[in-house]
Order: sequence, then structure tokens, then C-alpha cells
Amino acid sequence: WRFMHILAIESSCDETSAAVISNGKICSNVVSTQHIHQQYGGVVPELASRAHQQHILPVVREALQQSKLAKTELNAIAFTKGPGLLGSLLVGVSFAKAMALALKIPLIEVNHMQAHVLAHFIEDPKPPFPFLCLTVSGGHTQIVRVDSPTEMTIIGETLDDAVGEAFDKGAKILGLDYPGGPLIDKYAAQGNPGAFGFPIPEIPGLDFSFSGVKTAFLYFVQRETAANPGFVTERLEDLCAGLQHTLIEILLRKLRKAARQTGIKAVAIAGGVSANTGLRRSLQETGDALGWNVYIPKFEYCTDNAAMIAMAASFKYEKGIFSDQRVSPAARMDF
Ligand code: KG4
Ligand code: ZN
Repeated sequence: WRFMHILAIESSCDETSAAVISNGKICSNVVSTQHIHQQYGGVVPELASRAHQQHILPVVREALQQSKLAKTELNAIAFTKGPGLLGSLLVGVSFAKAMALALKIPLIEVNHMQAHVLAHFIEDPKPPFPFLCLTVSGGHTQIVRVDSPTEMTIIGETLDDAVGEAFDKGAKILGLDYPGGPLIDKYAAQGNPGAFGFPIPEIPGLDFSFSGVKTAFLYFVQRETAANPGFVTERLEDLCAGLQHTLIEILLRKLRKAARQTGIKAVAIAGGVSANTGLRRSLQETGDALGWNVYIPKFEYCTDNAAMIAMAASFKYEKGIFSDQRVSPAARMDF
């Protein structure tokens, strides 16, 4: 990894981010989060694209400045090809293409979900291959078997909602702001996880389902509120704790099954929901009980960021895997 300086751009959802990686080490990671969506209770794609357009140049400038590298020292430009919102991705892809063209350097496309997994290689301790990664975000819930930085297989995934969506929808039912995941986390810490129980779905194999929990939660809150209008306010902490406990239990049951089936005892989590303190604690406890080596990323590398895109791009650069100017974004994308 000598003489390898890469600028990476992430614009798949509602964070505009740019990072510089130099010889395998992250030297800057600038993230600009769009707050405009809060008032709408979810990401508005049209507004996200516009905000990316406004933020991308200052964010890239800042990332370069912090890295102390001149743009002429860059060896490649990396970007998120997908999955994500098409209009948002287009801003990052077009910017990356233009910059690579102007600097006459190669382009490297990165799969956003693979980058979440590879965020584990930014800092020590790094997981050994093969390892399992539970990738949990607002749009995805996957168990990934990782055999090398460029060989990954999805061995389980959600059949309906993503777990981050279940957190956010649960929060919306309770009247909390978007994105509700971090707020559920905060209130759950003061509640009793055993106060209210919600059903764990019986799904075959390693796949997940979260829509049933969401519906059960909605009906429960509606029924109790009809009897006592102050119910949510009085029991907010317990409701958050109960919902969070159920969602974590669904995740960990499948993760235990995956570890059993594959015989792999190196287990990592990634994606926005891996910032959840309850999940981090439960994973560590499960790992201690079952003799796993558990890998939990730093908070800043859990949610969307360009450092993980830069890390994934470094592995591709090493292998000489580049893209050409005809590349276009993909809203949906397999591994
Ligand atoms: O990976 P990410 O930043 O963006 C996507 O690619 O989706 O994940 C965002 C998701 C949101 O659903 C958000 O509510 C959830 O991650 N999230 C959390 C926490 N922090 C973020 N969910 C539960 N607890 C948290 N502390
Ligand atoms: Zn993400």
C-alpha cells in the first residue's frame, strides 16, 4: 500500500461525505448530515439530491484540506455506486467522474453494503477471514459471510422491512422525531425490556422479518392509548426498551444460528443500527457466552461515511480493479 492516495465520495442517502485514505490509513473523513428531512419524518429523495449538490464541493474541499494532500497527489477517485437513492447517488457518481477525468486518474466504484463490512479494516482490531458480519441499516439487514475483502456472500437477509426501518417506524408510532433509532436507544436505556413483549417471528433459515413486530407494536400502542390517552407518555421508556429488546432478539437468534451452521466464531456488526448500545452490549454478551471473537466498529464508522468507501476502494486498488467513465449508479445492487 505504498504511494496510494485515494479520495472517496459517499452520497447514497442523506449524508454527503468525503474521505482521503493514504497508504491504507484514513487521514480525513468529513460527513455532512442533511437535517432537512426531519420535519418530513423520513428522507425525501428530491431534497436529498439537492442537498448533496450543495454540500459536495465544500465537503470534498474540506476532506482534501484535512488530509494535507494536494489533489494532484491523488491516485484514484472512489465513489458509492449503490445501493441507495438514485438521485443522491448520481450527484456523487457524476462528481467523481468529473474529478477523475480532470485529474486523469482512475475511478473505483464501491458497493455501499460491502463498504459497511470493510469499515472493520479502518482500525485495529481487524477481524480474521472468514468472519460473519451482521449488517444492519435503514435499508438493509444482512448476515454476510466474508471470505476476503472482495469475496462476500449474503447468507441471510430480511424478507420485508430492514431493522433500522423497524426502529424508525416504531419511533414514529411513539411520536418521536426522525430518525428514531437513536431516540429509541436513548429511552430504552431507562426502561424495563421485560415490561412489554412482542412476538418473535418464525422464519426458516437465516432470513429475517420485521413487519410483524412493527404491526404488533402499532396495534398494541393503539389499543392501550384508546384506554388511556396518556399511555405513551407514561410508559415511553418501557415501550422503547421492549421494542428494542425484541428487535435485538430477532437479530441475535439468526446470528447464533449462522455461527452454528458455518462454524465461524469471528462475528462483526456493521451499519447504522450497529450504533445501538443495546445491540452492542447483547452481541458482546452472546459472544462471551459462546466463545466468539466479537468486532464492533467505532460509532463514527457505523453510520454512513466515506472512510468506509475509501477503505473498500483501497482493496480494489491493490488488486487493480477499476471502473471506466461509462459507469452509472445502481439503486439496487447485489454483491
Ligand atoms: O447505515 P445508515 O447510516 O444508513 C443507511 O444506509 O440506511 O443507517 C441508518 C439507520 C436508521 O434507520 C437509524 O435509525 C439507525 O440506522 N440507527 C439506529 C441508531 N443509530 C442509527 N438505530 C438504533 N439505535 C441507534 N443508536
Ligand atoms: Zn449505510
